[in-house]
Amino acid sequence: MSNDYHPFSEAFLANPWPVFRRMRDEEPAYFVEDLNTWALSRFEDVLQASNDRTHFTATMGTSIDMLLVDGPKPSAMVFMDPPEHTLHKNAVNRLYAKNAVALLEDTLRTRTRSLMAAGLESGEIDVHALATEVALRTIADFIGLQYAEIAHIRSLLDVFYHREPGHRGTTPQGMKAFGEIYEYTMALVRQYRRNPPPPGTQIHTWLEFAIDGKQMTDEEIYFSIFSFTVTGSDTIALVTAGTVYYLAQHPQQYAEVRADHALIPYAFAETARYDQPTNVLGRRVVADLELHGKTISAGQNVMFLFASANRDEREFPEADQYQISRRPPRTLAFGAGIHACIGQHLARLEGKIILEELFAAIPEYEVQQQRCRRTFTEFLQGYCEVPIRFRPR
Ligand code: HEM
Repeated sequence: MSNDYHPFSEAFLANPWPVFRRMRDEEPAYFVEDLNTWALSRFEDVLQASNDRTHFTATMGTSIDMLLVDGPKPSAMVFMDPPEHTLHKNAVNRLYAKNAVALLEDTLRTRTRSLMAAGLESGEIDVHALATEVALRTIADFIGLQYAEIAHIRSLLDVFYHREPGHRGTTPQGMKAFGEIYEYTMALVRQYRRNPPPPGTQIHTWLEFAIDGKQMTDEEIYFSIFSFTVTGSDTIALVTAGTVYYLAQHPQQYAEVRADHALIPYAFAETARYDQPTNVLGRRVVADLELHGKTISAGQNVMFLFASANRDEREFPEADQYQISRRPPRTLAFGAGIHACIGQHLARLEGKIILEELFAAIPEYEVQQQRCRRTFTEFLQGYCEVPIRFRPR
């Protein structure tokens, strides 16, 4: 097996697909020695592992950077196991239920139209920037933050997640931005303790939430705000922009979607499969397990290569082809098991509405291929700039 795989290798991150294929075919449980970490690349293995609560814990982190640093992790839903995870997820789950999210359709449509208005006049829109703004305003409403507050946190997050060629993981500027996010958000939490946002927002819920009479601390609420801001704004923009990008690469499928907007959700779903934005997440092993003839030991980490799993030919025929005609019975685009994406109905609705509104407002556009840009970190990937040009209104 080629040892081209390393989660921090820039060459790998720039084009992971051939390496993923070799891993799936030749060494589906692959050991990255210097990180004492295993990588699972096949669909079935990632699915089983996501559902396996006996051998894995999320309490030591779910992203590689967190898993590689020992020591206590922030106490937030994403890093919890049952029973705490269940209680925390149940506290906010109803806000993200399919029928609750469906009520937002008009708000999202109005929001998208108003954010598109200036671009329609100028003749150019960056689809990623548009989707980010829609998503940020929407997740701010869910969390209970003002737009200016979340926009400030987002701008610092962009510095935190920026990766420099030749530098592994977070840069020194990124670490500084992380400190600033902490200070700023902790001050917000103290302020919201005095003047809570309205009922029905997550901060309101978190301020009242208690397990066995013990309320959430400021730090716990801070990290909950942090994790929902990240998850609620990053991925959706990458998949929406990616959909416009990949449809431009496939003119026949683009024509089909243009002729029938009911196909938009399938195009969005296919992008989430084909270019899975949360390309790798993981867990810490708590009990030895055997897989593909290897022993994965307690104390080691296991990475779930979601992006590879979603390109597994064992699950998806012609997996390396972008085909909006797919109706796969199973997908890992939004994860599986107890940590499956809480925001998946929201993400699908946001993607659908942004694309519907773009297509309705702009009869013809040209994707500026030369200016499209891809981002990749050790856990996130996708198209982060997809400018389109068209006749101004
Ligand atoms: C296309 C967009 C999205 C994709 C592809 C995506 C993908 C995923 C995946 C793969 C997981 C599983 C993580 C794991 O097993 O460790 C996950 C979890 C999660 N997602 Fe999403 N997500 C998207 C949008 C969103 C949105 C809009 C939100 C806003 C609330 C969100 C919030 C979360 C949270 C909080 C979790 C952790 C759930 C838990 O720990 O129980 N995601 N997402």
